[in-house]
Amino acid sequence: MCSIIGYKGSDHASSVLIEGLKKMEYRGYDSVGIATIKSGKLLTRKGVGKVAEVNKSLRLDELPGKLGIGHTRWATHGGIVDHNAHPHLACNSTIAVVHNGIIENYDELKEELNRSGHKFKSETDSEVIAHLLEEYFEITRDIRLSMIFTCKRLVGSFAFVAVFNSSTLCGARYDEPLIVGVGNDDYFLSSDILGFLNHTDKAIFLDNRDIVVINDSDISFFNFDGDKISRKITQVAWELGDADKGKYSHYTLKEIHEQQQTIVKSLEQDKKNLENFCNVIAEAKNIFITGSGTSYHSALLAKQILSKSKIHVETIMSSEFQYSSDMLDENSVLLAISQSGETADVMESVKAAKDMGAKVLSIVNIPTSSLARLSDSYLEVNCGPEIGVAATKSFTSQIALLYYVADIIGRKSNGIIDSKEILTKSVSEVLELDSQIERVANQIKDSKDVYILGRSFHYPVSLEGALKIKELSYIHAEGMAAGELKHGPLALIDNNSIVIVIHPNDSTYSDTLSNIHTIKSRGAKIVGISNKRNDVYDYQIIIPTISEFLYPLIEVIPLQLLAYYLSICNNANPDYPRNLAKSVTVK
Ligand code: F6R
Repeated sequence: MCSIIGYKGSDHASSVLIEGLKKMEYRGYDSVGIATIKSGKLLTRKGVGKVAEVNKSLRLDELPGKLGIGHTRWATHGGIVDHNAHPHLACNSTIAVVHNGIIENYDELKEELNRSGHKFKSETDSEVIAHLLEEYFEITRDIRLSMIFTCKRLVGSFAFVAVFNSSTLCGARYDEPLIVGVGNDDYFLSSDILGFLNHTDKAIFLDNRDIVVINDSDISFFNFDGDKISRKITQVAWELGDADKGKYSHYTLKEIHEQQQTIVKSLEQDKKNLENFCNVIAEAKNIFITGSGTSYHSALLAKQILSKSKIHVETIMSSEFQYSSDMLDENSVLLAISQSGETADVMESVKAAKDMGAKVLSIVNIPTSSLARLSDSYLEVNCGPEIGVAATKSFTSQIALLYYVADIIGRKSNGIIDSKEILTKSVSEVLELDSQIERVANQIKDSKDVYILGRSFHYPVSLEGALKIKELSYIHAEGMAAGELKHGPLALIDNNSIVIVIHPNDSTYSDTLSNIHTIKSRGAKIVGISNKRNDVYDYQIIIPTISEFLYPLIEVIPLQLLAYYLSICNNANPDYPRNLAKSVTVK
């Protein structure tokens, strides 16, 4: 989703801004732009396309000056055209703004500003911020007051950064992340620490309703009421910035292969923190789990995993949470699962739960995220930066950690911790199937529809596999509980259908086998993911034998690889699927 970067210091700003935007490309975007200030003059260049392409044609990095702002846009209001790209300028070209989020009352503000003579050049909601700042600056001649008055007028979610030609860099946030990077003699403002981590590991995480103003002499913080506030510097881990593709052709493939280390790494938890976290769940009267997309599939698995420890939980998709939040009260616990910790739907659910008096726990990959900071307690999955837009290693890390939580609450000995070695070995064996799965992808690449079936634990994995295939390869895929086939979907099966069956030799084996025979007799081709060979499969993907409960951790990997190779076969870019963003900060 949109990325923001601002810089004020002693370096050539435009190069720093472009470098920061490139680091944040994984978040997804469609256009790019920067503005710098040189000798009191505001200079800007922007256009549709990738950072490298637009930079090549417009030479963004040649804009002079040591102060500037940059942005990559993911369109919400207004088409993907050059004039809707950020930065947006106020009428007299002395103020420029980049924004992430949605200004819900922009129509009303635009009308008011139009009446006062402001001229708009884009169809975006963001442009109103530049004109509001200008309006209030003309009245107050004070940047701090202009920021405060502007923020008070905005309804919705926003993080924005503005430059004033008087050499001032400012930012404000409400429900969208904004982080200050503090260098030796320079400052950064960014929506993601990756935007500045090459320069400094000192960060200030702004809270909701914070405003920061950086001028030649100092940096100061205020809230929207104008009160001066102080904010602490946090040292962030340099390793977070350590994201490159290594020997792999895509981040997605690299991240799939990293699961050999990341699954067990998620089990390295601080004992005390983990126990406190588990105690909150164990003592709760009602437990709800929420998440979006892949993280919601983790929630569905968590429900089944916890039920084995006799803990009943309800799962609610985060985007649907607002319609069910009445079920929560002060005796409830909401466990929110999110890789980014910034997903708008998840954040909304957490706020609704807090309003109902519930306790909030979370499982995140980014400990400095808004979700972690809003939670009463959180656990980190520790899988390192996930750059590929599709969640892969974060999914298996989330579920491994959920197994661990369930084992502790259920006081289960010989749980996942005792299976660490066998798990690592099994994951490595599954990853060795890479080229075999590439061949299967080549065989099925022209399919229009793919169905994935599984029972019990394998059902949420079927949903996850289908999501991966849809988003990476653009092939229609549907995951379903194998037993549901006969209740309707069977009507779709014919000799053009590809059906992938998650079919380890466990308690679900014989029932699923009957379903396979039913499908096979309608002419469908079967891809079997199993630890047991069976001639009923047209394509066999043989995975190692492991304890029944742990299959989800290894059986999802062939599905991730299949989705990856289908994407390559179909000439898509698996790292940046069309229309999608890594961190979905709009509702
Ligand atoms: C799918 C995918 C998305 C995310 C979803 C939630 O591959 O990546 O479905 O899982 O947007 O994101 P987080 O986990 O960051 O809240």
